[in-house]
Amino acid sequence: MKEELELQALKEEALKSIEDESADMEEVRVRFLGKKGKLTSILRNMGSLSPEERPRIGQIANEVRASIEKMIQTRNETLKAKAMELRLKAEKIDVTMPGKAPAPGHLHPLARVQREMEDIFIGMGFSIAEGPDVELDYYNFQALNIPEGHPARDTQDTFYISDKVLLRSQTSPVQVRVMEKQKPPIRIISPGRVYRSDALDATHSPLFHQMEGLVVDKGITMGDLKGMLETFAKRMFGDSTRIRFRPHHFPFTEPSAEVDVSCFVCGGCGCRVCKNEGWIEILGAGMVHPFVLSNCGIDPEEYSGFAFGMGIERVAMTRYGIDDIRLFTENDVRFLNQF
Ligand code: DAH
Repeated sequence: MKEELELQALKEEALKSIEDESADMEEVRVRFLGKKGKLTSILRNMGSLSPEERPRIGQIANEVRASIEKMIQTRNETLKAKAMELRLKAEKIDVTMPGKAPAPGHLHPLARVQREMEDIFIGMGFSIAEGPDVELDYYNFQALNIPEGHPARDTQDTFYISDKVLLRSQTSPVQVRVMEKQKPPIRIISPGRVYRSDALDATHSPLFHQMEGLVVDKGITMGDLKGMLETFAKRMFGDSTRIRFRPHHFPFTEPSAEVDVSCFVCGGCGCRVCKNEGWIEILGAGMVHPFVLSNCGIDPEEYSGFAFGMGIERVAMTRYGIDDIRLFTENDVRFLNQF
């Protein structure tokens, strides 16, 4: 039977096509089983068959169609499984691989030193007071016995918002703000930013930090100031640290002094950190001027006090042997990571 052979041949041809690696199954289906496909064109000749042959050939044709369909389906399933396998391999997650831990940050060296300083003073009974960065001329200068035209204004030239409003050049105005509000006994520190119109170099910056200190009570003496500063210096820089008072002048203290600490690197015999001086200046201090006390409504006959102001950058640079103040604000992680 010609049709029977043709159908057998068709089945084999289809099988070959289906097994072809590069074959597209949908294209194969259309080519063999579609309306204009090969199977249909064989069946079109069925009319020429005898009535006895017709059902037999018809049955064979149905079997061929079914088996081609089945082969395509099986092939499709295999292809799908293969694709899934490839995808699973490609997208595999190794849960045992070490993760990328986000590096936790840490305090900036200045913040760290500031907190250490605060802790030391809090341990001595001080509390923390704050004042504004944008300050009135009155608090920054006048109330501190620095009237207009006073030469001390030149050494603390700052940025003016208006005639009477400026960026504070020191933390000392907080002394006045505290004394105006609070009656003795007073024992405060006040850390914060200060500004000066200085050009930026290794030791100067238009923005830096100070920590002010103020103690006012009955019978406060320079001895109290000295003892307190010595305790601070030993806690901050180590037990063998000594301090030295040099006479100085500040308009808001009388007497006044600049205070040095012995170099913690060389112990006082001279090295690179202390520039061979053996001593490093860290603050200004003195007995609060009677004029300042009465300016704030505190009777200088009844009360006395001491005050000091230290540079936080200076303390941090001394503590860590940092020789350039610009490093604090450049945000270079190679520097910051060392702390
Ligand atoms: N305010 C001064 C400055 O910036 C430092 C200072 C000196 C503060 C003596 C004080 C003090 O409280 O008593 O140079």
